[in-house]
Amino acid sequence: MENEVYNDGIEIIVANASHEKYVDEILETISAAAKVRGTGIAKRTHEYVAQKMKEGKAIIALAGDEFAGFCYIESWGNKQYVANSGLIVKDKFRGHGLARRIKQKAFELSRTMWPDAKLFGLTSGGAVMKINTELGYVPVPFSELTDDETFWKGCQGCVNHDVLMRTERRYCICTAMLYDPAKHGKK
Ligand SMILES: CC(C)(COP(=O)(O)OP(=O)(O)OC[C@H]1O[C@@H](n2cnc3c(N)ncnc32)[C@H](O)[C@@H]1OP(=O)(O)O)[C@@H](O)C(=O)NCCC(=O)NCCS
Repeated sequence: MENEVYNDGIEIIVANASHEKYVDEILETISAAAKVRGTGIAKRTHEYVAQKMKEGKAIIALAGDEFAGFCYIESWGNKQYVANSGLIVKDKFRGHGLARRIKQKAFELSRTMWPDAKLFGLTSGGAVMKINTELGYVPVPFSELTDDETFWKGCQGCVNHDVLMRTERRYCICTAMLYDPAKHGKK
């Protein structure tokens, strides 16, 4: 997959082991943004994110040497589902379509790695809902998502986890969105 450099000089790259030096800043930026929004966020460790980079399952946006944005993908439920998680754009780079470019690249990577998988995400953010809709995702009930316990364990660190538990995983604050390749034709 080609790396993309736009006329603002920001490069959108499939991350690798050499990008581990950015992991701590990525995690700090994610948790600071969650505090500002007052929303829940799944907690990830340095090792988990670094492993995603080593496996070629993360997208990083770089302005020269500076981290500008990030997200990663992971397969669940015996590779039948792929989730896009951890999307973050550093404050000063927001509002210029960078999240859209990162999500587009993550979408292409997911479709390349797992062409038959359904792609999904959980979000409470308007920007992500808009970008997902442009990519062909639709809102779905939680029952249409993976039942992989490990995926749902990721919600344990979220401040709203009690809601998810109280509703027996049928509802929560986030909106679930799904892209089903069977409904779009295969690439
Ligand atoms: C959400 C976030 C990733 C957006 O990054 P960004 O680079 O500013 O987003 P983009 O510029 O690509 O915006 C994409 C579209 O969403 C719209 N948008 C941006 N923020 C929005 C918001 N809060 N509500 C509704 N729409 C929004 C933009 O207007 C744009 O649409 P347009 O081009 O038609 O005007 C960034 O604000 C961020 O990192 N926030 C904190 C972490 C977070 O919320 N992550 C998502 C977790 S699910």
